[in-house]
Amino acid sequence: MILKIKHTSEKPSGVRNLFLVNDTSSLKDFGFNADALAYVKLKEEAKEKLITIKAYNITYYVVIVDKGELNDKSLEVLRKNGHTITSGMRKDKEEAICVYDSTGNKEAVLALTEGLALSTYQFDKYLSKKDKSFGEFNIWVATPVVNQEDLNELQLLCESVFATRDLVNEPVSTMDVAELSKTIEQLGEKHGFTVEIFNKTKLESLKFGGLLGVNKGSIDPPAFHILEWKPQNATNTKPVVLVGKGVVFDTGGINLKTPPGSLDDMKSDMGGAASVVGALTAVSANKLPVHVIGLIPATDNRPGGNAIVPGDILSMHNGTTVEILNTDAEGRLILADALSYSKKYDPELVIDLATLTGSAVMAIGHYATVGMGTADSTIFDELTKSGYRVNERVVQFPFWDDYDDLIKSEVADIKNIGGREGGSITAGKFLSHFVEAPWIHLDIAGPAFVRKEDSYRGFGASGVGVRLLYDFLKSRS
Ligand code: BES
Ligand code: MN
Ligand code: ZN
Repeated sequence: MILKIKHTSEKPSGVRNLFLVNDTSSLKDFGFNADALAYVKLKEEAKEKLITIKAYNITYYVVIVDKGELNDKSLEVLRKNGHTITSGMRKDKEEAICVYDSTGNKEAVLALTEGLALSTYQFDKYLSKKDKSFGEFNIWVATPVVNQEDLNELQLLCESVFATRDLVNEPVSTMDVAELSKTIEQLGEKHGFTVEIFNKTKLESLKFGGLLGVNKGSIDPPAFHILEWKPQNATNTKPVVLVGKGVVFDTGGINLKTPPGSLDDMKSDMGGAASVVGALTAVSANKLPVHVIGLIPATDNRPGGNAIVPGDILSMHNGTTVEILNTDAEGRLILADALSYSKKYDPELVIDLATLTGSAVMAIGHYATVGMGTADSTIFDELTKSGYRVNERVVQFPFWDDYDDLIKSEVADIKNIGGREGGSITAGKFLSHFVEAPWIHLDIAGPAFVRKEDSYRGFGASGVGVRLLYDFLKSRS
């Protein structure tokens, strides 16, 4: 599917029309006749904010929004209205829409357009009958309140989200470590970030004990990816480092996951990696003046003749020894090496993204990301604000010293599980042993992959993290 978002000062024909208004009487200026106006008034009195008008074979839409500056909730309502409209067009096999506006509110126009655009995504390559698919979807925006530059930025951001969703939706048979590496290289080539990849031999020489340990049960070698966007006009002197968990499939290893259904979605266990790739894509495609590095350790986690087992002790990249008590707590092991490696860049901030714990899902569901870490509260506040703005919300969990005790080991420096209580926090505490710079850990296990359509986030992979990080990095730059 090709998505095009274009500014126009004409009135394109053969498209569906969408009118964004504060006040329905302004629809007169768009040529609404008395019947249409009366119908809209009726719906408005019934408090409807999205009105669909069908006259003979013509369908058009009116979206009503409050006057003045909009809060985060209202912007989210607009995105969801965009999704409802795109879904209707998908059913009707219509592939072009023009957005007209009488509100003069740029944020509102962009949120509505974003909702339309993000909902055009489809993972349909394995369907024989693509009867619900768009070929090319055209969004025309006919208002001077936004320009083509704004729309290009939005389009590139949406395409970055789609790249992340594709990476996550692809099963492990077609998205193993080698294929992940290849896709990252292609995206780097296309959008301008550089890519360096360490192979197994290199990782052995660097003593990446966590990544190599998790990989021991696998027949495919691991890889470590370094992505970098370093524009000359960067506003930060020290880079922001993003780290993403790249477990291309998580069986649990020797501690095989139970019940069997709990394996169904584990192709999504590289969601953190995919979001880091999407964030670097968005930042470089839009040439944000910010120096960002992405670090992605990748492997599958499988049982095998040589797989690690409970009782094993791994020595990690920074020398810390870890007693393995559950091979299903593998994400923290590969992240540990990547976090420790980040020290080399003397980062101003490290953010890791990972589908790390079922405990995060149990705590808050798929509605938000669990966050914690050592960065100071102003940074957390900025990230939380970005989260509300783009509706990729982050909930900060406690990170008190008390939790440190839960991962103490008798035979090694720490152990890789902390027990049933506070599972996402003890996972975070584990990671804290490997990072010295100000750091935020984002556990995206809930929102990364959802088995039921969730508005413009879609079915399956949501691409969570990309819009959050883009907004956060943009507001810092
Ligand atoms: N990849 C899983 C976490 C996960 C669960 C992600 C559900 C998405 C949906 C992770 O590797 C894992 O298995 N975590 C264990 C840790 C436990 C053994 C300490 C968990 O959360 O059960
Ligand atoms: Mn696991
Ligand atoms: Zn995992």
